[in-house]
Amino acid sequence: MTVILTNLKYTVIGGIVLTVILIAVMSNLPGERFAVDHAWLTFIFRWLHVLSGVMWIGLLWYLNFVQIPNMPNIPDEHKPAIGKVIAPAVLFWFRWAAMTTLITGLIVAYMNGYLLEAITLGSDGASKSTIIGIGMWLAAIMWFNVWFVIWPNQKRALGIVEADVDSKAASARTAMLFSRTNTLLSIPMLYAMVAAQNIY
Ligand code: HEM
Repeated sequence: MTVILTNLKYTVIGGIVLTVILIAVMSNLPGERFAVDHAWLTFIFRWLHVLSGVMWIGLLWYLNFVQIPNMPNIPDEHKPAIGKVIAPAVLFWFRWAAMTTLITGLIVAYMNGYLLEAITLGSDGASKSTIIGIGMWLAAIMWFNVWFVIWPNQKRALGIVEADVDSKAASARTAMLFSRTNTLLSIPMLYAMVAAQNIY
């Protein structure tokens, strides 16, 4: 057991194996007619979508609830540990989780047959596509902020690309403000995402 828990790769494989066992158990429950069909594949993509979304928003909230507020409490000589080691690792997983969340979300909308209706905020007159469309647009704005505002500014702020002291400070502030914007948007975005399941 310790081998599984001391190696992250094995831990993730362990989680996947348990999920496969769960699928096998669930598909054999009385009255369950399991089939690898369109409905099941759509469900699997929704599960992958929520997994990616949790990784993305979890790291966004880590940055906003833990890292940023506690930076002033860290002695200057220890700050490079955050700036040079922790933050780049967080940003790697954060931006790729944002990407996979967007891609899997668009796939789910397409497989559910309402991609265009949702993008146009309910052009079919259904409140479900309006609600999920609002969630999708809010999340798409957040994805744009991650890739085209926060990441380029963080690259300057963390010294991954060359920048002078003034532009480093300005970039760090811009990245922080957009990260805060995403934290603000994440609350109504998640409301819309989840509400869509209860509106027909
Ligand atoms: C980036 C753009 C995103 C798109 C295009 C998108 C799209 C979708 C779609 C189409 C659904 C299925 C809704 C339904 O049929 O009822 C959905 C559900 C959901 N999404 Fe997103 N989403 C995005 C971002 C996010 C993010 C960032 C999160 C954060 C955790 C998230 C969490 C969820 C949750 C929890 C559900 C409900 C799953 C369920 O109740 O079974 N989504 N999303």
